[in-house]
Amino acid sequence: MNKMKIGVTGGAGYIGSHVVLSLLEQGHQVIVIDDLSSGSMKNVFSDESSYTFIQEDFSSEKGLKTLFDFLPDVVFHFAAQKAAGVSMQHPEHFSKHNIRSTLKLIEALSQSECGNFIFSSSAAVYGKPEYLPLDEEHPLRPLNYYGFTKQCIEENLKWFSRLGKMRFASLRYFNAAGYNINNQIQGIEKDANNLLPVIMETAIGKRPILDIFGTDYDTKDGTCLRDYIHTDDLAKAHLLSMEYILKEGKDLFVNLGGAKGASVLEVLQLAEEVIGKKIPHRFVGRREGDPPALFASSEKAYKILGWKAEHSSLKEVIESTWKVYFASL
Ligand SMILES: NC(=O)c1ccc[n+]([C@@H]2O[C@H](COP(=O)([O-])OP(=O)(O)OC[C@H]3O[C@@H](n4cnc5c(N)ncnc54)[C@H](O)[C@@H]3O)[C@@H](O)[C@H]2O)c1
Repeated sequence: MNKMKIGVTGGAGYIGSHVVLSLLEQGHQVIVIDDLSSGSMKNVFSDESSYTFIQEDFSSEKGLKTLFDFLPDVVFHFAAQKAAGVSMQHPEHFSKHNIRSTLKLIEALSQSECGNFIFSSSAAVYGKPEYLPLDEEHPLRPLNYYGFTKQCIEENLKWFSRLGKMRFASLRYFNAAGYNINNQIQGIEKDANNLLPVIMETAIGKRPILDIFGTDYDTKDGTCLRDYIHTDDLAKAHLLSMEYILKEGKDLFVNLGGAKGASVLEVLQLAEEVIGKKIPHRFVGRREGDPPALFASSEKAYKILGWKAEHSSLKEVIESTWKVYFASL
């Protein structure tokens, strides 16, 4: 693939930094616009000559100008608020950051020379599964406002594309987990909400105890079952999606999951084995809006992109995460 100029919002965050690493490895020139509200300077590749980092809100006048003055061929948009629980208490925060700011970016892109957009969507667009595994045809009925913000942007992308303003890929991630297998990403998440970082923070003493929400779900051990997808696998899917929209000239909605669910207790037990100690935990009531099981069909990603998860075994995900948290001590 030709070397290109790529603009990345949120590229100092957890998933964005893994994708930036892969883009740099493929020889692309990258500009990252990140305000570091939840990202980390540790995820900034300042030694790379084909990499520029700008600390700025991507939706500010300066952020948008910097991004489009770079004349990117493709924009990857990772910057967003992602705590689904918080979105139910503060929808105004999510409408501002995930909808209004993203629309400003889409508007600016539609008026620029750049016609290609890769969007970080989420499995949260589906809501309560009517069947499993979840495929891309499943109805979109988000259970939380966060999921709605992703659906709202997807709807806008469809219109902008239909009106000839852009091509896009909307990647619906399941639970992103794990760290770069070559140990090149070291920034740990701020204000982590997902199971694995919370387990890790409990293991290193940053949190006193892990809460397990609900033990009476209709799953093999009563705890929720989720689909974990390694960030290196996600990164690869981003590059393939970029290639697809550029070569085929078509839009894409695609699920990215490891396709094999694991329960909260399975993750905890394996994490205890990998870390070599017991993780303090307690069982508490169910959380509003948590479906018992969520896992993806990745058939479309395989058929269209030739992609399948290679590093998303629970063991690889946990081991690579523990390496980074252990090093942070
Ligand atoms: N982590 C997951 O499991 C998961 C699952 C589904 C979807 N997603 C989506 O993937 C994307 C990336 O998630 P992540 O886990 O890497 O989160 P993250 O919080 O680690 O990364 C987001 C990055 O965006 C930056 N940012 C936020 N607002 C900004 C702004 N206005 N201007 C500039 N930079 C800004 C943050 O500093 C951070 O570096 C998000 O859109 C999220 O909704 C994540």
